[in-house]
This record gives sequence, C-alpha cells and structure tokens, in this order.
Amino acid sequence: MTSAVATQTRNLPLLVTPSLAAGRTYIVTGANTGLGFEASKHLATLGAGKVILAVRNPAAGDIAKQEIDTAAGTAGTSVVEVWPLDMASYDSVRAFVRRVDAELERVDAVVLNAAVAQAKREMAEGHLLSVTVNVLSTILLATLLLPVVKRKAAEGAMPRLVMVASRAGFDSKEDWRGSRGILYGPTKLAETLAVRHLARELVPADKTGVIINLVCPGLCVTNLARNAPQDFTEKLREMHAKFGRTAEDGSRTLLHGVVAGVESHGKLLHSCEDGEYVAPSNLALG
Ligand SMILES: NC(=O)c1ccc[n+]([C@@H]2O[C@H](COP(=O)([O-])OP(=O)(O)OC[C@H]3O[C@@H](n4cnc5c(N)ncnc54)[C@H](OP(=O)(O)O)[C@@H]3O)[C@@H](O)[C@H]2O)c1
Repeated sequence: MTSAVATQTRNLPLLVTPSLAAGRTYIVTGANTGLGFEASKHLATLGAGKVILAVRNPAAGDIAKQEIDTAAGTAGTSVVEVWPLDMASYDSVRAFVRRVDAELERVDAVVLNAAVAQAKREMAEGHLLSVTVNVLSTILLATLLLPVVKRKAAEGAMPRLVMVASRAGFDSKEDWRGSRGILYGPTKLAETLAVRHLARELVPADKTGVIINLVCPGLCVTNLARNAPQDFTEKLREMHAKFGRTAEDGSRTLLHGVVAGVESHGKLLHSCEDGEYVAPSNLALG
C-alpha cells in the first residue's frame, strides 16, 4: 500500500450533514476507539437520533459514550447507546442481530468497522482470530443484518451496510501467516473479495433495497497495530508521521460510505472520492 499511502490526501470532506443525519439510526462496530469512535462522534454531533456503539468491551464503550456525549451535547439522552458485540463469537454476532431486530425501530446505516491485527496466534471459532473477526464474523453480521435493515428502513430510503476494508490487502505479498506473523492484509483482501461477490452477485441493491459498499480509510494514526511486534510498530510510526491521516480525518471515509448512493454498491471507495479503487494489475491471488 506504500504508493497509495504516499499520495493519500488529508483534510477530507465531511459528507454527512446535519440534515442527512437528523433523526436517523446508525450502528458502528468497534466504536470505542480509532476510526469507529470518531465516526460515531460525528454522527452524534450531527444530530443522529440514535448511535449504537457496538463493542466487545462494555467498560471501554461506556468511556467512549461519555466522551461522545460531552462532544455532541447528548449527555442525559438515550441517543448514544453501548451494546455488546464480540466478533470473535458467532453466538455474540447472532445475539446482536436479534437485539437490533427486537429493539430498533429503524436502521439507516451500519458501519462494520471492527477488526484486529495481531501476531499472537489466537484461535476463535476454529480459525485464527483475525480471520474470524475480520472476515467470517464480518460477513456473518452483514448477511444476518441485511433482511433486518431492509425491514427497518424508513419509507423510500435505502439503508447502507458500510464494510470497512483496506487497500493494504491488494498490495500484500504475505501468505496467510502474514508479515512478521501478523495476519492482517490477506484478511482485508478476503473481506473485500467476499463482499464484492456478495453484493454484486447474490444481493444486488435493486433487488434488496440495501446498499452494501466497502470503504478504505487509508493509513490512519490509530492503535490498530497495538499487538504487532516492535520492529513493525516502529516502521509504522514513521509511516504515520509522514503520511498518516488522523483518526478523525480517516473516519470521514466511513461516513462517505454512509451517504454514498446506489452506484457505490459492491465497490471499494476511498478518500471520499466517487469511483472505485483499482487494484494493481500485478495482483496475485494464487
Ligand atoms: N488505521 C488504519 O491505518 C487503517 C487502514 C485501513 C483500514 N483500516 C480499518 O479500519 C477499521 C478500524 O480500524 P482502526 O484503525 O480504527 O483500529 P482500532 O483503533 O484498533 O479499532 C478497532 C476496533 O475494533 C474492535 N475490535 C477488535 N476485535 C473485536 C472483536 N472481537 N469484537 C468486537 N470489536 C472488536 C476494537 O475493540 P477493542 O478496543 O476492544 O480492541 C476497536 O474498537 C478496521 O476495519 C481496519 O482494518 C484501518
């Protein structure tokens, strides 16, 4: 992703406006920190009716809620809510979707943002943790949510499932073990390819009324690589200093997905621009 990162723009436009957000209901996974936190803060500040922070650690979610309430002026209201969701567990994903179905009157967009990048070999649901969290549970969540958000769409509106992906996957020369043992890039590539297939071939927006798009936030200064080996994080720190977007800036790409039209269905968006990211022609999938 080096070349794409080296030329990435900063100070992106904020494409969700108060009139677009007012009274709407949004769900953001992995909303306690990083890009998910900043996107949720924007949505609450812009006047959303409900912002669900879907987090694996409710205590971290409560702290995030307090910060967002202070920034958005929503303290003492039920606008921002913290709901448990652990993407390492299929049961948790299923329970979360049942709760969305049971408790939310409407859903306008879900930002599927939660992901993990780590070198430690940890298993969940029979697969490496990052495969389960970044790919399998993410696709499971999108698939289970699709009929629910369709049912809960406001009259005449097309709800969005915004899948937070990464162009890093396309540039990855890693096998499934990943560079320095970090399995990340290939999981984001698998997510992208699976979502494209799902969206374009299996659930076209004109049949379901639901827009599924992918967004790449670019290289952003977050704590995503907190569990990576030291030599990797040192190199990343240099890249962050040279090219990184702030988490707030990068979160604007997530919000682009929230408002992008039907033409974004099945496409990988980046930098708040129209049109899809074109992968390098030397992409090797073998
Ligand atoms: N930062 C970048 O440069 C960059 C570039 C391209 C794409 N992205 C993508 O952007 C998204 C957000 O990343 P970020 O940079 O904001 O990273 P981050 O700060 O590490 O945020 C990741 C979020 O995912 C949550 N999460 C991890 N495992 C989970 C699980 N099992 N269940 C539920 N939530 C879980 C984390 O919760 P905890 O706090 O509890 O760990 C955290 O809230 C990811 O999809 C990432 O792949 C980031």
